[in-house]
Amino acid sequence: MKSKILEEMNKQINEELFSGYLYYSMSAYFESVGLPGFAHWMRTQALEEQEHAHRFYNYINERGGDVKLQAIEAPQTEWSSPLQIFEAAYKHEQHITGRINKLVEIAQEEKDHASVNFLQWFVAEQVEEEASADEVVQRLKLVEGSKGGLFMIDREMAQRVYALNPEVTF
Ligand code: FEO
Repeated sequence: MKSKILEEMNKQINEELFSGYLYYSMSAYFESVGLPGFAHWMRTQALEEQEHAHRFYNYINERGGDVKLQAIEAPQTEWSSPLQIFEAAYKHEQHITGRINKLVEIAQEEKDHASVNFLQWFVAEQVEEEASADEVVQRLKLVEGSKGGLFMIDREMAQRVYALNPEVTF
């Protein structure tokens, strides 16, 4: 692998692990305010982010590159409402989409077709990541001010199931 794409993919491992850390922090906040369904949803999301990081880890190793882990930044720990949290999660996913697009551009510039191909999974995944965060934003806006509505969504959020994608080997 050329050094630029390798460096940016190593940075992306950090971005994905930070995403997991951020969602884990959001989960802790939801626990602290008595919304266990939202907390569960966020922990599931954190596991998915670990899987995303691991896809890059596996790919770098397969290509004969060196994985170099970097310090993970401390995430925010306080928010003012569930809506504010999901707006922040949506904004964060938009940032990650920007990172993935940048990686694709670098791979294209370097004529690294294998990396362009590898990154397509993430291009599609980011559409889902943004949509799922935004869907919760829209639902929270609909029930704003209604405790009953919030608890109803909390019960639904508790149903999220994490299934490790079989194509990812840990
Ligand atoms: Fe790994 Fe939520 O993007």
